[in-house]
Amino acid sequence: MKFILGIESSCDETGIALYHTERGLLAHALHSQVKMHNEYGGVVPELASRDHVHRVLPLIRSTMQQADCTISELNAIAYTQGPGLSGALLVGASVACSLAYSLNIPAIGIHHLEGHLLSPLLSEPELKFPFIALLVSGGHTQLMRVDDVGQYTLLGETLDDAAGEAFDKSAKLLGLDYPGGPALSKLAQDGQPGRFNLPRPMLHSGNLNFSFSGLKTAVLTLVRQHTTTKQTIDDQTRADIAHATQQAIVDVLVNKALVALKQTGLKQLVVAGGVGANQPLRQQLNVAATKGNFHVFYPALEFCTDNGAMIAYAAALRFHRQQNSGQEVEFDYRFNVKPRWDLQQINS
Ligand code: KG4
Ligand code: ZN
Repeated sequence: MKFILGIESSCDETGIALYHTERGLLAHALHSQVKMHNEYGGVVPELASRDHVHRVLPLIRSTMQQADCTISELNAIAYTQGPGLSGALLVGASVACSLAYSLNIPAIGIHHLEGHLLSPLLSEPELKFPFIALLVSGGHTQLMRVDDVGQYTLLGETLDDAAGEAFDKSAKLLGLDYPGGPALSKLAQDGQPGRFNLPRPMLHSGNLNFSFSGLKTAVLTLVRQHTTTKQTIDDQTRADIAHATQQAIVDVLVNKALVALKQTGLKQLVVAGGVGANQPLRQQLNVAATKGNFHVFYPALEFCTDNGAMIAYAAALRFHRQQNSGQEVEFDYRFNVKPRWDLQQINS
């Protein structure tokens, strides 16, 4: 197996990449639908699927051109099989499976979160199994123990909203555009630390679970308290609330990640998923790593959010493992997407 095409279409980004098992990542391309969904304040699933239909083939063509490769050189096609929006997933799955069928090469369905949590290995040669992964995206907040490819143990997860959702919903309450995480983080730069103190849900719960829905209610209360009769809220107050919100989310994530490291005795932490792009989260973790004598790894910023490279790469690692264990690669082109899919189900 040499050339692996990766297709990611689980939500609002069409990500395509070409990965070579010896030469590494050769090319990648991404189309984000953020602008399109922005108007509606969140992802509209039907619009997402239609946009993937428009983008996927031109992006595959441009990625192949960028790498100076032809379709006939491909040895496998990997696609995100789940979890995600079913219509959006079906676009990537149908293109991957039909193209693979026409080329008589394997089509490999990949778990989106496996892609995220293995993505730091793309650029971090020092990172070795086992490690703790903090998966923080728009739909997931999980702490996993990763012993190898296909060996994932869930240590804790959110009981309600995901960290990214907490960013997005709070940002919406502050009148910021979707997706709110980066916008809230930018606004928070002008905020005064300490003016507001928001709850840190489940900080001392004694386990590794999270809960963020109460935070959104606390933000709503603050926003209401500071909204004038003219329905406005002054800029400084908005920035101060943004700062307090971000600090509360970051504090909980950092604290729980440290507990996971302590409980397992592991010395490596991987932060994956869109919220991993958050700078204060990175700063606070870096400080904790120096103090606590552990290493923290992040995917390159462009591979923090959804992308095709992590899908192609996860397929390469899976394939390598299968080959080493003498297993045959199946050529199965019947595609069934899995909008809800527990990561531990793919353990081998
Ligand atoms: O992993 P991802 O791209 O997509 C999902 O699989 O969900 O994560 C998207 C999430 C969104 O909630 C977005 O607001 C958040 O990641 N995000 C951020 C930042 N960049 C993206 N949250 C906080 N700070 C950021 N810089
Ligand atoms: Zn994601």
